[in-house]
Amino acid sequence: KLPSHIRNEPIKNFGVTDVKDWDLLRASLMKFNNSALQIPLVINGERIYSDSKLLAQTNPADHQKVLANVSQASESDVERAIKATQDSKRKWFELPLHERASVFLKAADLITTKYRYDMLASCMLGQGKSVYQAEIDCVAELADFFRYNAVYAQQLYAQQPTESIPGVWNRAEYRPLEGFVYAVSPFNFTAIAANLVGAPALMGNTVLWKPSHYAALSNYLLYTVLEEAGLPHGVVNFVPGDPVMVTKKALNNRNFAALHYTGSTAVFKQLYGTIQNNLAQGVYRDYPRVVGETGGKNFHLVHPSADMPNAVFNTIRGAFEYQGQKCSATSRLYLPESKATEFLTDMCGILAAKDSKCTPTNTAASALSGGDLHGFVGPVIHETSFNKLKNAIEEAKKDPELQIVYGGAYDSSKGWFVEPTVVKCSNPHHKFMKQEFFGPLLAVCEYPDAKFPEICDIIDTTTEYGLTGSVFARDREAVRLASEKLRFAAGNFYINDKCTGAVVAQQWFGGARMSGTNDKAGSGNVLSRFVSVRNIKENF
Ligand code: SER
Repeated sequence: KLPSHIRNEPIKNFGVTDVKDWDLLRASLMKFNNSALQIPLVINGERIYSDSKLLAQTNPADHQKVLANVSQASESDVERAIKATQDSKRKWFELPLHERASVFLKAADLITTKYRYDMLASCMLGQGKSVYQAEIDCVAELADFFRYNAVYAQQLYAQQPTESIPGVWNRAEYRPLEGFVYAVSPFNFTAIAANLVGAPALMGNTVLWKPSHYAALSNYLLYTVLEEAGLPHGVVNFVPGDPVMVTKKALNNRNFAALHYTGSTAVFKQLYGTIQNNLAQGVYRDYPRVVGETGGKNFHLVHPSADMPNAVFNTIRGAFEYQGQKCSATSRLYLPESKATEFLTDMCGILAAKDSKCTPTNTAASALSGGDLHGFVGPVIHETSFNKLKNAIEEAKKDPELQIVYGGAYDSSKGWFVEPTVVKCSNPHHKFMKQEFFGPLLAVCEYPDAKFPEICDIIDTTTEYGLTGSVFARDREAVRLASEKLRFAAGNFYINDKCTGAVVAQQWFGGARMSGTNDKAGSGNVLSRFVSVRNIKENF
């Protein structure tokens, strides 16, 4: 029997006195910093190093620094990986659930012990995370996904038809999907990659995994941990490569059974369209399952009755931790006129005190050089993201409806650094209040105190998204009103807390509207998408 109750993995503090933790982390950072790892494809357990087709993964805080050379799949590699998913399938799904689950439970233990510092270092260097952001992602959330999924799978399998009459035995058999699952994972959370791959595999599916190039180092490490934990060859095939080509090969294959995706809204819409098109043309054997989580324009709504220091503190965390690169990040803020000046003054003061000026350091670099270990500002992930934010800042400087009240600096001389930036918008329908920038850019709008219900309606209707949002209020009537009016505006709704940082099994995560299919990562819902139930009636 699998464990039926477990705890969320505790987060290590990495305080200044935690010398041993820092020493171990520094050793891992140095290991990855001093050698550019060759990352292969892994197809049916076989390492394939494509010497002629390599793409460098660089450190976003120091873009001349190559961390890894990542092999790129060819078309025939993808075909072989898809074949491996089919060849390995039967042996894997015929294992009882507890044996499949034991692979993921063991991987969780390896990540939280033997490989903890390597995982942290790979995310800090490769994905520009501070040590805290790395801890909550590639250690705690990742292990939580593996452990809680095992519990949820067990609960799901236990669900059976509730009635049988004498002489008849009705039962449900939880089969995997017949084809393969195509998992497309993002750069910003290694834990998400683990769940995109791990959830379907746990349910007996086999997976073609296209990791983000910008997370290749930590994702490959994750693959090797799964292997060490006993994952049989071919169950998960690690296939970095050109996203367009790999996706085309995957989606055009008859055995394609499900997409498990986290990434941009634009790409998800495209893939959804391709799948529908292919379906209409008879490409598939089954109706593919499409499970996706995409972007957001997540809101903080502050009521005049709110505890303002709490709202300020949480807005800084929601908007600027991990440089605003969480799909859940706060990117629009609504302030009551009577409190706006005080709120913004306090927020800007705290940001300035946190030394958020864009300096080409992050905690990985600082840890290596023995400097400040808890820097607040890291880099954004790549040049494209940097340029998008830079252009937005330049636009804000010129647009009469916009005013930069904090930040606005950027520096790409060493890494992709953008200062936390707060832009006041005089028009609540301005595109800065609608568009996702996926970076440290917070758009703010004031509303007349008496128009709280009206601002709820504006929040509800100005964007196409529905991912996360928060209301800050002491007044229960305001909380009730916002909860009702914003019922469909957020799949994760917070009261007096930031709209980021969902914890597996505590806050099921996912949004609706154009933010995704809302199948709730960190719950049993998502697992049910990767099983196909056979009902069996037997007469005695
Ligand atoms: N689950 C993360 C959060 O809630 C985002 O992907 O912040």
